[in-house]
Amino acid sequence: MPKGYYLIQNGPADSAFDLRELPSREINSSEVRIAVEGFGLNFADVMARLGQYRECPPLPTIIGYEAVGTVTEVGAAVRHVKVGERVLAFTRFGGYAEEVITDHRGVVPIPDTWSLGWATALATQYATAWYSATYITQLHPGEKVLIQAAAGGVGTALVQIARHKSCIIYGTAGSAAKIDYLRQLGVQHPINYRTTNFYDYIQQDLQGGRLDVVFDPIGGKVSRQGFKLLSSGGRMVCYGAASLTGKNNLFAKLRFALQFGFFHPIQLMMRSKSIIGVNMLKVGDYRPEALQTVMQEVVEASKSGLLQEQKTTEYPADQLATAHTALEKRQTMGKVAMKW
Ligand SMILES: NC(=O)c1ccc[n+]([C@@H]2O[C@H](COP(=O)([O-])OP(=O)(O)OC[C@H]3O[C@@H](n4cnc5c(N)ncnc54)[C@H](OP(=O)(O)O)[C@@H]3O)[C@@H](O)[C@H]2O)c1
Repeated sequence: MPKGYYLIQNGPADSAFDLRELPSREINSSEVRIAVEGFGLNFADVMARLGQYRECPPLPTIIGYEAVGTVTEVGAAVRHVKVGERVLAFTRFGGYAEEVITDHRGVVPIPDTWSLGWATALATQYATAWYSATYITQLHPGEKVLIQAAAGGVGTALVQIARHKSCIIYGTAGSAAKIDYLRQLGVQHPINYRTTNFYDYIQQDLQGGRLDVVFDPIGGKVSRQGFKLLSSGGRMVCYGAASLTGKNNLFAKLRFALQFGFFHPIQLMMRSKSIIGVNMLKVGDYRPEALQTVMQEVVEASKSGLLQEQKTTEYPADQLATAHTALEKRQTMGKVAMKW
């Protein structure tokens, strides 16, 4: 029987997961069964483990948004993938497993030559970046773009897309090694926020000018400052709340919420600024065709070379706790993937 890593309790990674047999079940007509070679980690998984992710199903549960493997069975209505094909699958949880069953609209065939890390990065991190940068904000050449947590998985993907669109990029990260990595990626203004105040740096650099687009997965005060730097016609995408990590008590949560500041539609209208929330789970739930299009476009953009393989750290699956802890402690760059 195939097995999977169940999240059995919230807290430190060492005691959070347990490898258990998966229940067997039939697939329905629109589903695909996949024998998994490996799966990816996302920061949302850390939030889920810490009990800070609202969407996480009740425990025990298997989390994980993406898996790469070989199709072993397809439902009667599935046309675009065949048994025996290597595929990338967006899973609405259930990814940390040797076998995955998921809706066919989240499944895309991929070349055998693609590394596990590269392929897993595409389902969630590149799809999020692609959806945010092309559909939501429609980056234009020459626009000045701030990418927070730019050395991470989504951040790297956003940098590649913004580079392709000839944008001027301000990218923040929290260590000297990450700043080197951002330089290699072609970020014109890598900012180590531990040594340089990003708000002051950008204000000074723009000499009274403003940003066109802000990508913000941090939240709180960082979002408020990003919004202040935004010009008229500017767009800010909020897609995460990393600064909430580990803040479990009510007071800390309230403080986090207040730190965003207050926005009013009249204020947005008068200044012609946009704030847009992105949650790919909801896109998958309510616009599965949109998710399918985004995943197909991301795979095509990778084949054409528009998107390039990003830095990956690959761990054996039995080192799940180590990998989770590294992601939580901000020690990772690019994608983290687990191999069975
Ligand atoms: N809304 C969506 O649909 C969606 C989809 C995918 C991802 N996301 C969000 O996008 C963000 C990036 O996801 P990812 O999987 O690619 O992760 P990641 O960026 O590879 O890892 C998270 C990074 O966030 C930075 N960070 C800033 N404050 C942090 C804090 N308090 N605790 C921990 N890390 C902090 C760290 O980079 P530095 O060391 O440079 O600070 C860390 O390496 C996450 O916030 C995630 O929840 C949202």
